[in-house]
Amino acid sequence: MRVEIPLYTERFGSVRINDVQRILELDSGRRRDDEKEITTIHKIEKNEIEDVEDKLAIVVPVKEEKLKLLEGVLSGIPHDCVVIVVSNSQTNPINRFKMEVDTLARFHRFTRRKMLVIHQKDPGLALAFQENKYTGILDKKEKLVRDGKAEAMVVGILLAKMVGKEFVGFVDADNYIPGAVNEYVKNFAAGFCMAESSYVMVRNSWKYKPKIYNTGIYFKKWGRISEVTNRYLNLIISNYIGFETEVIKTANSGEHALTMKLAEILKYSSGFSVEPYELLYILEEFGGIKPTNYPEVIEDGVEIFQIETRNPHFHEDKGEDHLKKMLLESLSVVYYSELCNQTIKTLILNELVSQNILKKDTFPPQLPTMPPLRSINIQNFNEKLKEAKTFTMFE
Ligand code: GDP
Ligand code: CO
Repeated sequence: MRVEIPLYTERFGSVRINDVQRILELDSGRRRDDEKEITTIHKIEKNEIEDVEDKLAIVVPVKEEKLKLLEGVLSGIPHDCVVIVVSNSQTNPINRFKMEVDTLARFHRFTRRKMLVIHQKDPGLALAFQENKYTGILDKKEKLVRDGKAEAMVVGILLAKMVGKEFVGFVDADNYIPGAVNEYVKNFAAGFCMAESSYVMVRNSWKYKPKIYNTGIYFKKWGRISEVTNRYLNLIISNYIGFETEVIKTANSGEHALTMKLAEILKYSSGFSVEPYELLYILEEFGGIKPTNYPEVIEDGVEIFQIETRNPHFHEDKGEDHLKKMLLESLSVVYYSELCNQTIKTLILNELVSQNILKKDTFPPQLPTMPPLRSINIQNFNEKLKEAKTFTMFE
């Protein structure tokens, strides 16, 4: 793969946020001895990408998606990545979850690839969390894992750690284009190849999110939600560094990846606020604003890459209410961040009111967060899950 080097990097304490990097070639061909290096371009060899794929788990959160889409997503993930499907689909009256497991079983019969699948509401899973005193993920009433995409991601990260992976990435189950999924994973791997630190996050930035209208297809550049969330995150950073910046372009990027070393020390915010919160938390914890609990990270630094995909992002349209919920949750974590000053808070309230998402003189909901996963004893967690037969492993 050929990717431009980051043309500009914003520093925030020990965090380095690289501006969006474009891809020149998805496939840069065979390595040749007489090759001339181009200093502004990274060439990442296939074998380097494959080395990362061996150590990479791809978590696919799924809730009531079409099985054809799920199967397409599976087909796009490179074979050597272990796939971890975390489902919150219904089991009753129709067992959609069983259909998903059957889809995986069938896929495994023909591909023999390694996959794990678990249901988010499995009582054995909740018990394993309870035993490890990791109750921030549980619903207080139900005593099961809460609903939410972030909750599924946290479960996925733990399973990735359980099977000894060094990297973990996330790919939504509602992607229409398997070739795009394949590219996302290659981009994650390319990001890790470029990194110097061991605390790394790679976020995909969409070149286009096309919309289909009666008049034809329109290659839209920005999703409506991410445009707004990006703006507020950039305001927060600008306010601290004293220079206006637009460096954040992937605030809501569901398709992203982390080194396990970074994944296990982050806090996660519930539901759809998870993606912007990851960025905020990294800035809060490692931005040099307060003393950190992780001096070793300050030493190494946190690197954030934003890689612009060549494939457009086509996914299921979940409608207006879904978008409103997503914006509310995203701006809520910005609002309650310790980095957010009164001026930005007022701007956020005005934004939500003007978009008819929040009533005047009310405040956004404060969402639950989940503490760093490092506190969980992974052997014990693994044993508990196995005892309760919570997950199915295909290998
Ligand atoms: P968007 O693409 O960001 O607009 O959000 P989606 O609604 O498409 O959700 C992203 C992914 O998370 C999809 O694959 C969903 O099926 C999945 N998802 C959403 N909510 C949940 C949940 O509560 N649990 C799990 N396991 N997956 C979820
Ligand atoms: Co989607």
